[in-house]
Amino acid sequence: MDSKQLIEEAMKARQKAYAPYSNFKVGAALMGQDGRIFMGCNVENASYGLTMCAERVAVVKAVSEGVTEFSAIALIADSDTPISPCGACRQVLAEFNPEMTVIMGNIAGEIEETILSELLPNQFRSHRLT
Ligand code: THU
Repeated sequence: MDSKQLIEEAMKARQKAYAPYSNFKVGAALMGQDGRIFMGCNVENASYGLTMCAERVAVVKAVSEGVTEFSAIALIADSDTPISPCGACRQVLAEFNPEMTVIMGNIAGEIEETILSELLPNQFRSHRLT
């Protein structure tokens, strides 16, 4: 599956976004090493701080289904430039693969691609816990 196809999946996930407070809908599609795709959308809450980002929803769905190895994630929103994952999501994604491909898009059709470690260098990793 190429970047454009994974962005298409993220676009479908975005349609499910629950974002009545910000009206900023985000979709994510997380590619497991086994080829399975996990979709995520942002899920907001009246207690704003409890909002869950699309990327983390996708990670939680995948891990709870037994998939912990990922090769790529695609994200999309109606943003002026391709949406870049928030810091918390970068850290959560890095737990599983700091070298995963991150494909960022917007509704206007712009796409940018990078590697997670470029977005979050020197991540906090479990080897630092010893
Ligand atoms: N949001 C995401 O889903 N992912 C990000 O990486 C950035 C922000 C959501 C959270 C909130 O529902 C809305 O976008 C506005 O911040």
